[in-house]
Amino acid sequence: MRAIFIPCAPLIAMLALLTGGCDRPAARSSEGVAGDAPRASASGPAATSASPTFSDYPVPPKPEVNPEFLARGKTVYELNCVACHGEHGDAKADAAAFLVPRPRDFVQANYRLRSTPTGSLPTDVDLFRAVSLGLAGTAMPPWRHMLSPEDCWAVVEYIKTFSPRFAETDAAPVTVDLGTAPARTEATVAQGKALYTSLACASCHGETGEGNGPSIVGLVDDAHMKIKPRDFTRPGNFKSGYATKEIVRTILTGFNGTPMVGFYGSIPVEDAWKVAYYVETLVRPAPPAPIARASQNFLARESLGEPDVRIKLIERAWKYEPDVIRVRKGQIVEVTFEPTDNGLGAGHGFAVSGYDEVAFINGAMVGAPKTVKFRADRAGKFTFYCATQCSTEKLHPLMTGTFIVEANPAKSSALD
Ligand code: HEC
Ligand code: HEC
Repeated sequence: MRAIFIPCAPLIAMLALLTGGCDRPAARSSEGVAGDAPRASASGPAATSASPTFSDYPVPPKPEVNPEFLARGKTVYELNCVACHGEHGDAKADAAAFLVPRPRDFVQANYRLRSTPTGSLPTDVDLFRAVSLGLAGTAMPPWRHMLSPEDCWAVVEYIKTFSPRFAETDAAPVTVDLGTAPARTEATVAQGKALYTSLACASCHGETGEGNGPSIVGLVDDAHMKIKPRDFTRPGNFKSGYATKEIVRTILTGFNGTPMVGFYGSIPVEDAWKVAYYVETLVRPAPPAPIARASQNFLARESLGEPDVRIKLIERAWKYEPDVIRVRKGQIVEVTFEPTDNGLGAGHGFAVSGYDEVAFINGAMVGAPKTVKFRADRAGKFTFYCATQCSTEKLHPLMTGTFIVEANPAKSSALD
């Protein structure tokens, strides 16, 4: 049974991330409130949606490491990490075979996000940050949303036990000093551009920074998986977050276990800043934000106020129940739709022809009903149907019903 249940844990966690977005309350934390602490302090006065980046993520002091604490780490690991990183931390797990990049092999202990020079182990703080923030663009989730800081610390201490390397080295690892940032001027950016060529960044990352340089053929990581240099035009894919400091740190520390070497000790730290300034010029303007479509009307929903009618709609065996909905013109209609178990685990939707812009639900699931609210401001007889996966196509021809909006007899309030 364990073999069946354990792999579900990360999937549930990921589902929570996918469906709930980043602000889901802690799901698997033993101290849920504490789990929110870093987030609260990270959303400073700017209070934008910008996430903290690796080096700036606040780290609470590590609790005392004793056998109970390691046992707690083991429990956290078995509930949340084992399906990807494997029982023995060697990334030999059920899910690992399907993931690119592969989950980290904690026995080899080649960590990518570090404050330490190439080839060195990370600091404990580095590991805490990597676990808390996850790695953008990979299957590694940001655990700060699911685990308390104490649980993160416990699991960090636990994953270190998989590799003899941590036990062998007593000395605290050397951390790379990022020095003082030189002024960002036309001259320093131009010097950065020259360094981008002379340090051969372009050979991997490409002249235009798209990750398509001439040397990319055959690049692999320590799991023998093909690896692509970062595309500098797209800031969302930076594994340690997009910030000058993180680019500087990456240039100096490198990513262990990948062709991305670190330049600490071989170039002046100032040069790393200049290259970083140039790298930042390669970003392309983000595509325009998607237009807030009226049909995804969760934005408008609040302003409609209390509904006049609430309708519970279900789907059973590919049919809607009820299959006729009758409302009056001008009413605020709230439809809550939930499919019943059709054995496929498939989501279903609800849309009303003639009300396409305001009545649209997609991907309602068993146990996860969805609600839409709109004003029935057009009288007539309409068809409602299954719209799913953001499509207004009529996906299931049998799944239809009739949506009747009766015109109000003018001012004859006696009838209401
Ligand atoms: C869904 C799969 C998945 C789960 C679950 C998962 N990880 Fe990972 N993890 C990954 C992948 C994939 C990577 C490699 C990312 C990369 O190479 O860029 C990774 C990388 C890491 C790293 C390395 C970061 C670095 O700097 O190299 C650490 C540490 C880590 N995971 C810890 C954990 C811990 C602790 C848990 C459980 C609390 C966990 N992971 C759960 C997929 C997962
Ligand atoms: C031999 C090829 C190679 C060279 C040369 C190289 N890189 Fe990389 N670089 C990579 C690869 C591969 C990755 C992706 C690693 C990953 O995804 O885990 C990467 C990742 C990065 C990242 C991503 C950091 C993040 O948070 O995701 C930055 C920044 C970067 N490189 C900058 C540079 C700069 C600047 C230079 C030149 C000083 C350079 N690289 C030289 C191969 C290279």
